[in-house]
Amino acid sequence: MRHFSRRSVLGGLAGAASITALARPAIAQAAPLKIGLMLPFSGTYAALGENIAAAFELCLKEQDGKLGGRAVTIVRVDDESDPAKAPANVNRLIGRDNVDVMVGTVHSGVVMAMVQAAREKEVPLIIPNAGNVAATRNLCSPYVFRSSFSNWQPAYGMGKALAAKGVKKAAWVTWDYAAGKESGDGFRDGLKAGGAELTQVLTLPFPETNFQPLLAKIPGLGVDAVGSFFAGGGAIQFVKDYAAAGLRDKVPLCGSGFLTEGVLKAQGAAAEGIQTALHYGDGLNNPKNTAFRTLFKATTSRDADVYAVQGYDAAQMLAAGLAATKGDAAAIKPLAAAIRAARIDSPRGTFTLSPSHNPVQTIWLREVRGSENKVIGAAVEALVDPGTGCKMPA
Ligand code: BEZ
Repeated sequence: MRHFSRRSVLGGLAGAASITALARPAIAQAAPLKIGLMLPFSGTYAALGENIAAAFELCLKEQDGKLGGRAVTIVRVDDESDPAKAPANVNRLIGRDNVDVMVGTVHSGVVMAMVQAAREKEVPLIIPNAGNVAATRNLCSPYVFRSSFSNWQPAYGMGKALAAKGVKKAAWVTWDYAAGKESGDGFRDGLKAGGAELTQVLTLPFPETNFQPLLAKIPGLGVDAVGSFFAGGGAIQFVKDYAAAGLRDKVPLCGSGFLTEGVLKAQGAAAEGIQTALHYGDGLNNPKNTAFRTLFKATTSRDADVYAVQGYDAAQMLAAGLAATKGDAAAIKPLAAAIRAARIDSPRGTFTLSPSHNPVQTIWLREVRGSENKVIGAAVEALVDPGTGCKMPA
């Protein structure tokens, strides 16, 4: 329980009775809302963390630096995508910096320490990327929300689209950690729904990029296609190595959209024609997307990608929740109810949350054409993660 935090917000007001009476009205004037932004700013996922943080702060700026009428301060922590350092980083945010809200992170292993702390210390958490399914399945909580996806969702879309094209057998190649494994499960389920089969899974440890031993096995697998989950620096290397091994024309490569997201410049011609599935893509024609991409480019000199979208929407979700509580992040019932009821006007298209707090969203089929992940159709419309095992308290 985190009774100490409300006392600190009130600047040390003495006496339980006066705290109860004064807490809510005093909060807006008392102290800024402290948000802990825990993301990778170094390592293979650094660019992903940078785009999430930049877009989150962009959205805050649009709200005049306030949420629920309360000024916001941000504390940043570089989690290095290292699960071993995650408990210490989270303790630092909650125990030392006394944050009111956590936003993070990218890596599915690291996010587990944040989910555990959110549940135990009762600190709201918005996950702006990490797709670990447990966060919105068996470990779902009124304190945990996702602005991104479950690992299962994009890969399910890819498997389904592949089966619809007539593929009968496919393999999955990935890093050996939750994101790779769970997206493999989604791919398997999507293939199965379309009458096709996942026959092999090949892995290497995160974040290794010596792909040669795996690539050497692919021609002998007897599959019609290879699906994969890699992201950031690892995705750049994998796509280049796949092409350099002469596999592109023999066994078509596809994947969860992270494979080609935010990395096309570095992948160059090696990525041309690769199909992926994701809840975002280039050429999505809605006014919010146009405005967001223009603003993001003007502010950062970079092109927006799915990571930026998820960071922006994390701030939009918080804004909706805190508007209902006048900036009180500890008022979890009304805060959660408002986020659950919100229709988030996202650059990906408007979305709502499932009962387990995961976005219900269309998974787009995209194809790399030049410098774009061009949307070529919907792989699955309004896809809901099954939320298996979630018992959300009322
Ligand atoms: C994950 O670890 O959940 C993840 C990392 C990068 C992109 C997508 C998912």
